[in-house]
Amino acid sequence: MREIRFDRFGGPEVLSLIPDAPMPEPGPDEVLVEVAFVGLNPLDYKIRDGSSGMSRDLQLPAGTGREMAGTVIGAGAGLDEAELGSRGLSVGTRVFGMRAPGDPRGVAAEVIAIGADDLAPIPGEISDEDLPRWAGLALAGLTAIAVIDDSAAIAPGQTVLVHGGSGGVGQLLIPMAIEAGASQVWATGRADNAERIRELGAVPIPYDTGNWQEEIHRLTDGRGVDVVLDTHYHSTFVPSLDHVTEGGLVVTLPTLADLTPAHERGVEATVPRIKPGRDRLDRLVQGIRAGRYLLEVSQVLPLDEIARAHSLLEDGHTRGKLVLAAQS
Ligand SMILES: NC(=O)c1ccc[n+]([C@@H]2O[C@H](COP(=O)([O-])OP(=O)(O)OC[C@H]3O[C@@H](n4cnc5c(N)ncnc54)[C@H](OP(=O)(O)O)[C@@H]3O)[C@@H](O)[C@H]2O)c1
Repeated sequence: MREIRFDRFGGPEVLSLIPDAPMPEPGPDEVLVEVAFVGLNPLDYKIRDGSSGMSRDLQLPAGTGREMAGTVIGAGAGLDEAELGSRGLSVGTRVFGMRAPGDPRGVAAEVIAIGADDLAPIPGEISDEDLPRWAGLALAGLTAIAVIDDSAAIAPGQTVLVHGGSGGVGQLLIPMAIEAGASQVWATGRADNAERIRELGAVPIPYDTGNWQEEIHRLTDGRGVDVVLDTHYHSTFVPSLDHVTEGGLVVTLPTLADLTPAHERGVEATVPRIKPGRDRLDRLVQGIRAGRYLLEVSQVLPLDEIARAHSLLEDGHTRGKLVLAAQS
């Protein structure tokens, strides 16, 4: 089977397609999945270039990719037919999910073995044409839930500013903040993405054609917002500290973000931590089914264009999700 691997840390060129990789053997509590599509995330290139905390103990050569959608084709010894059925993961079922945070194996391959707890079934009414979106849902979705529920614990009536409202996580943060009862959600992004941000339910604040700081100052009469959800960090984190209310909170996403500038100024700031779990995957299913989570796939590339996909990802302006088709 075909699989993407890299044998040293570096740029996108270290990624190569292995045409005859061995088929994986599922562990006792694992399911064998024929992968249809792979969702890409900034974490993928951070692991590949060696800058992620996850790169530290990674054995090379290694696989790449953390989330996917596909079809169950087998299972390990601990999962008989009845057990698989009770979890809704019988052979032939379409599933989506992501590697558990501590599992270093990739998913960019034609077949993977993955923990049964890290998967959920895709509802039968979903058409195969929609599978790319499901491939990109688990990591962005579990992150958004961790941000909204665990880190920010958004309360009804709070005001929220999202930085990067049309990115992979941003497209889920906006509807989830609204669901949690936010009275007003503003979101920064390029002017080209303003319409998309509006469709998601937020008021867009273009950062490339105007000054977002002046705009949020004006819109809040200088009071600032209760919660900043910062998916960008680099040029947004420190300036955001001037635009939170007294007692407000900044949640910034990159795991290695330096929170010192906030703490020095007495502003509460935190980085979310994904909590995997079937209950949270099922919640994402409900949100998609109800039409509340309009996560968009901007591009689907073939598996052998993984290096180009990583370059696009590194540009930092992905709209919704970038996805790879795993089968040739
Ligand atoms: N802590 C965790 O567990 C966790 C989990 C998932 C992701 N993350 C991290 O979260 C970050 C975002 O992930 P993602 O998947 O959403 O990335 P993404 O899909 O690549 O989106 C990046 C977003 O950043 C926006 N952006 C770029 N420059 C900006 C600027 N100057 N001001 C405001 N927005 C700007 C882009 O919007 P425009 O195109 O409009 O510029 C785009 O919407 C990454 O660093 C990722 O590693 C952390």
